Amino acid sequence: MNYTPFMSVFDVDPPIIDNKHLIKWLKINFSFLRNKLLKIKQLDSERDINFIIFINNKKKYVLKISNPSEKINILKYQDRLINYLRTDLSLKSFIPKIHHTKIVKYLDKKNRECFVRILSYIEGRMYGDTKSNDKIENSLGKLLGKVSTKLKSFNDIDAHRNFIWDPSNIKWIKKDINIFTGSKKLILLKCFSEYEKFVKNNLNKLRYSITHSDPNNYNIVIKENNVCGLLDYGDSIYSPTINDLAICLSYALMNNDNIYLTLKNIITEYNKQFSINEDEINSLISLCKSRLMITVVMAKKQRIKYPSNQYLSISEKDAWSLLEKLDKIPINFLIYIVREICGFDIIHHHNEIINYINKFNFGNIFKFNLLDKNKSILKLSSDSPLLKGNPDNSSLKKRVNKIFKEDNSRIGIGLYNEKRKVYKGPNFISELNTNERRNIHLGIDIFIDQGTDLFAPIDGKIIILKNNNFKYDYGPTLVLEHSFKKYKFYTLYGHLSKIMFQKLKIGKKIKKGEWIGKIGNSNENGKWLPHLHFQIILDLLGHDKNFPGVGEEFLFNIWNKISPDPNLILRIPKSFYSNNNNNFKDTLKKRRKNISDNLSISYKKPLHMLEAKDQYFFDRYGRRYLDCVNNISHVGHSNSYVHEAMTQQNLKLNTNTRYLYDTINDYSELLLSKFPKKLNKIFFVCTGSEANDLAYRIAQTYTSAKDVFVMDNAYHGHTNALIDLSPYKFNSKGGSGKKDYVHVLDMPDPLRGKWRYQNSNWIQKYIDEAKTVIRNKIKETNIACFFTESILGCGGQVILPKNYLKEIFSEIRRNNALCIVDEVQTGFGRVGRHFWSFEEHDVVPDIVTLGKPMGNGHPIAAVITTEKIASTFNNGMEYFNSFGGNPVSCAIGKAVLETIDNNKLQKNALLVGNYFLKELKKIQLKYKKYISEVRGRGLFLGIDIIQNSNASKPNKKLAKLLINYMRNQGILLSTDGPYDNVIKIKPPLVFTKLNVDQVCKNLETFFKKL
Ligand SMILES: Cc1ncc(COP(=O)(O)O)c(C=O)c1O
Repeated sequence: MNYTPFMSVFDVDPPIIDNKHLIKWLKINFSFLRNKLLKIKQLDSERDINFIIFINNKKKYVLKISNPSEKINILKYQDRLINYLRTDLSLKSFIPKIHHTKIVKYLDKKNRECFVRILSYIEGRMYGDTKSNDKIENSLGKLLGKVSTKLKSFNDIDAHRNFIWDPSNIKWIKKDINIFTGSKKLILLKCFSEYEKFVKNNLNKLRYSITHSDPNNYNIVIKENNVCGLLDYGDSIYSPTINDLAICLSYALMNNDNIYLTLKNIITEYNKQFSINEDEINSLISLCKSRLMITVVMAKKQRIKYPSNQYLSISEKDAWSLLEKLDKIPINFLIYIVREICGFDIIHHHNEIINYINKFNFGNIFKFNLLDKNKSILKLSSDSPLLKGNPDNSSLKKRVNKIFKEDNSRIGIGLYNEKRKVYKGPNFISELNTNERRNIHLGIDIFIDQGTDLFAPIDGKIIILKNNNFKYDYGPTLVLEHSFKKYKFYTLYGHLSKIMFQKLKIGKKIKKGEWIGKIGNSNENGKWLPHLHFQIILDLLGHDKNFPGVGEEFLFNIWNKISPDPNLILRIPKSFYSNNNNNFKDTLKKRRKNISDNLSISYKKPLHMLEAKDQYFFDRYGRRYLDCVNNISHVGHSNSYVHEAMTQQNLKLNTNTRYLYDTINDYSELLLSKFPKKLNKIFFVCTGSEANDLAYRIAQTYTSAKDVFVMDNAYHGHTNALIDLSPYKFNSKGGSGKKDYVHVLDMPDPLRGKWRYQNSNWIQKYIDEAKTVIRNKIKETNIACFFTESILGCGGQVILPKNYLKEIFSEIRRNNALCIVDEVQTGFGRVGRHFWSFEEHDVVPDIVTLGKPMGNGHPIAAVITTEKIASTFNNGMEYFNSFGGNPVSCAIGKAVLETIDNNKLQKNALLVGNYFLKELKKIQLKYKKYISEVRGRGLFLGIDIIQNSNASKPNKKLAKLLINYMRNQGILLSTDGPYDNVIKIKPPLVFTKLNVDQVCKNLETFFKKL
C-alpha cells in the first residue's frame, strides 16, 4: 500500500492483466525465466497486482506489477531498502531477495504503464492465518527489533514523505471522527485526545528512522512456529522508529484473548534488540490505537465511497473490537505494563510518594487508633472457612461474631493482596486476559459497626463522591486527593453511609482529623457486611467516579505500584498478618507443657507478643502496648543500629577472649570511659547473675573472707551463691532463709521502716544503726563485701538517702572489705542526671556489676573493678568465659553505648523522667488516699499504692488491679517491693512526654473510677 493523504487509495484502478500475455512477456524480459515452465497465480491486493510465479509447479517468485499511478522513484527506494536490509546476515533470510536487475515497464490491457519487480517467494503461512503462540510472538518482536536497529543507520530521501497510514501523524483524522456517532465517536474522540497528549506533544522526543510501516498480520510469514519473512516495503517511510512496533501490535492484539501476553512476548524481544526508551513507551500504546483509528476511519470512508467493495472492511470489525477493548483499559495502565516489560520503574516518583507516606504522621481514621484495639483477621479467600457454603449475610455475621468473641475483638481486618472468589459477574473479567478475573483485593477491609464515624487521616480534597450503587460495588464512595510537593496520591473509602452526601461536596478541602463519613449498612453499601474498604491510589488512571478495588493476579506487580498496601497508613504490625500459628489457647497449652510453671507469666490473661519496636509491643491481635517496664530494651526494642552491629560482626568473626580482636578493645575503652578512672578493669560475662556471682568470688579471693552485707529485700541473681545473698528470694516463699555468713541491713524506708519521714533525723538513724551492725559483725569475723544497689529495685524503687552509701562504704572499708554496687537495673544513663546511679552518692565502688540494658536484649554483662583487685583475683586460676566478651557481644555493647550517646538518651531519661515524676506527683496529690508516694530518678520510678490514706498499709490488691486495668488500656507496668504494692516504671529510654501523658491520663481514670 502506498498512498499520500491527497490521493485516495482507489482513485486509480489496479493494473488489468492478461495472464497469458504476461507470461510471454516475462519470458522475454527476464532471462532467468526463459525456457521455464511458468505458471502464475494472482494474490490479494488492493491497488497493484501481485502474482506468485511457479516454475515447474513450485512456488518461486513474487511478481509485483505496480499501480499505474505509482512513481518509479518510490519503487527504486524500496529496492534500495530491501538491499540494505539484506546486508545484515541475521536479517537476510527474512527479507525477500530482488530478482529483477532493473525495474521494467509493462503495459496493461488499458495500455497504462506499470512497473514490474520480481522478488523471491518466502515459503510459509501468513501470520494472519496462523494460530499465534509465544514462540511466534517472541520471534516477531525479535525480528522487528532487529529491523529497527538495522534501520538506525539507513536514510533515503524518498522515504521522507507524508503518509496517511502513519499513526504518528493523524491530525487529519479529527474532522473525520464526525462521521461516527454514539459510543464509537466517543471512543475515537478519546483516542484522539490521547494521541494529542501521548504522541503529538511527544513527537520531538522520539527517535526517528526509516520504518517498514506496515508489519501487519499479512506481511509476516510464519514457518514452524517462527517468523521467517517480512514482506511489502511499499509503505516504508521516515517516521518515529517505534511506529513499527506500534503498528505490529495493533494487528497482533486483534482477536486476542490474552493481549497482555502478546504485548509481553513481542515487546520483550523487541526491547532486547532495540532498547525502547521512556518517551517511546509513552507514545507506543497511543500510536497503536491511532493506527486502529486510521483503519476504522479509512474503512468507513471507503465504504461510504465504495459501498460494494467487501475487501475494504477486512480488518475494520477486528479493529473496532480491539479499540473497544482497549478503551476499557486506562491508557496509563497499558503504559505501566510496557514500562514493566521494558524494565523501567512502573510509576514515576513511586518511591518519593511511598517514602512520604512512610514518614507521614497520619491521623486516626476512626475516633480511636486502630493499633489500640484487638483485631481479628477475616479471611475472604476462596478456601476461607468463613465463606464455606456461600453463607448469606446473617450466617456470615454469626461466623464473624464467633471469631470476634474468641479474639475479644470488635474489628475485623480483610486482607490486601488476598485472592477472593466473591467478585462475581462480567465486570470482573480481565480485559487484558479474558480467561482471568480481577480478584486480588487492593485495599484493606475494616469490618466494624455500621454508623462508625470516619475521619481524614491527612489533609485532602474530595475528588470522588459517588454512590456506586451496584450489587458488590462500593455503594457510597469517597476519594480524597492528597498533595505534597509536585506529587499527588489518593485515599479511597468505600461502603460508606449515604449520609455523607448531605454533608460533603466534590472539591471540598478536608483537614486531617475532619469527619468524612460513616460506615454504611448492608442495604446501602453494596450488600456487604458493614465495613470500610480502604485503599491507597497513586494514579487514578482517569477514573472519576469509582476505582477498581480488585485487580488481576497476573498484573499484581503493577496494581501493587498503583495501589500499594494500605497498611502503609494503617501501620498494623506485619506480624499480625503473618501470625498463622496456633490459636491463643494452643500457644498457652504448649508453653505450659514444655516450660516449668515457676517461670511465671504476667497478667491474668497472658499476652502473646509478636513483635516490638522502640517503646511498643504488638501482640497477636495486632494491639499495641506501651512498654513501661522493660529496662532491658534500653535503647528501644528492635533497635536497627544495634541489630546491624550484631549481624555485621556475626558475619565476620565470633570467638572467645583467648584470641586478640579489636571489638573487645574498642568496646572496653568506650565502656571504661564512662567510669571513674580508678575502675579500669573489666571481666565480661553474660548475665547480671553471672556478674554478681563473679564479683562475690573476686571479693572472697581479695579478702579471703566470705561474710557479706546485703540490703534487705535485695535481689542480685539466681545462682546458688546469689540466692543466698538475696533476701528477696531466701526470705520469701520457697526460700530456705538466711545463711550465717549473710548479714542484712535494713532498708532505709521512710514509709514503713523503723524510722519514717516524721521521725527527725531518720536518715542518720538508719545510717548509725547500719554502722553499728557492721562494726559489731566486724568484731566477730572478716567481711568480704557489701552488696547494694543505689536505688533498691526489688525493695520497691527505694532511693538510698544522701550520705547513706558514703558512710556505709567507709565503715565497710575499715575492714578492707569491698563495696560492690549492682547497677544491673539502674545503669547506662537510666537515672538521668548520672550515667551510673552510684554517682549521685559521691562514692566510687570497688566493684560495679552491669547487666540487663548492656546489650539491649543480647546477653552481655560485666564486672568492673580496680587494677589492684583484678590482679589479686589473678591468683593462678584462669578465668575463662566461653561467651563473655565475644566479638559479637562487644559489637552490640558498643552499639548500645553509641546509641545512648548519639541519641542523647541519658538526657531524655532526665527530661522525660522529671516530667513523669512531676505529673505523677500531681496525681498523687489528687489521690493521696491511694498513693502514699511517687519516687525515683530519671526513668526509674515507683508509685507506692496504699490503703485508705494509710502510708503504712501497702495495698497489693489495688496495685494488681491497677496494672491489669492499665494492661487493658494498652500500658504495661509491673509491681514490686516487699509488699508488692509498688508500681514499677522503667521503660526503654526512648520514652516520650506523650507516652507519659498517656500513662498519666489512664492512671487518673483508674483512680477516678475507684
Ligand atoms: C539488681 C539485679 N541484679 C542482678 C540481677 C540478675 O540479672 P540476670 O537476670 O541477668 O541474671 C537482676 C535481675 O533482675 C537484678 O534486678
